Amino acid sequence: MALLGNLARELLRLARLTAAGNPFDLPAVERRHGTWNHADLEWLAPKVAGVAGDFAELGVFRGAAFRKVAELAAGQNKLAHAFDSFAGMDEPTAADGTAYPKGKFDIGGPAEFVRLMDKAGVERERYRMWAGYVPDCFSTVPPALRFSLVILDLDHYQPTVEALVWLTPRINAGGILALDDYVPGGTALASKAIREFLAGDKLFRRVAQFNQQLILQKVS
Ligand SMILES: C[S@@+](CC[C@H](N)C(=O)[O-])C[C@H]1O[C@@H](n2cnc3c(N)ncnc32)[C@H](O)[C@@H]1O
Repeated sequence: MALLGNLARELLRLARLTAAGNPFDLPAVERRHGTWNHADLEWLAPKVAGVAGDFAELGVFRGAAFRKVAELAAGQNKLAHAFDSFAGMDEPTAADGTAYPKGKFDIGGPAEFVRLMDKAGVERERYRMWAGYVPDCFSTVPPALRFSLVILDLDHYQPTVEALVWLTPRINAGGILALDDYVPGGTALASKAIREFLAGDKLFRRVAQFNQQLILQKVS
């Protein structure tokens, strides 16, 4: 009887995945909005094992996801890049509303991020930090830097637009672009930027969508 119950639950889970257009092997885990479940990151990383290029997260906050990103990058002999103001959100624009005011997510500077990563056991040589607001923080990045896996999680509309423009040519074919805060039909914040990006994009295919997170893979 218990076996039948388990089977029925598994069939229901697979039916839900199919209905959402998601792959069967997507981890069966509880997810919380605004955070990246480490099981999902572990599921993504092998997809780029054969793709050249480092890992990056744009919008790292206290590194809850980045510590796993750095570990997974190291497993492929790649570096992990942390992009953030480390001083929280910039001034919102009209496309952002009031939910993310200037300074929200301020951790007090890059040194605090290093301290948090030290505490989490992330070795300093495993990652690089690019401090400053997007797009200013891109100005010192070597032109040759390419990525195989990127998480984009900046919440605001304008930096998400600018990050997508900057990232697109820097993600190698086969690379993954994982977008947070994508609410389909959303008319504000990052959702608006992602929706506009998708409307004009021909380079990425949709891999999965869950937890207001959209996973794309560069096909060319
Ligand atoms: C929601 S938090 C990121 C959460 C993180 N990805 C995680 O999973 O734990 C958004 C981050 O984006 C950063 N951020 C927002 N706008 C930015 C901008 N214009 N330039 C640089 N960093 C920015 C904030 O400082 C904050 O750390």
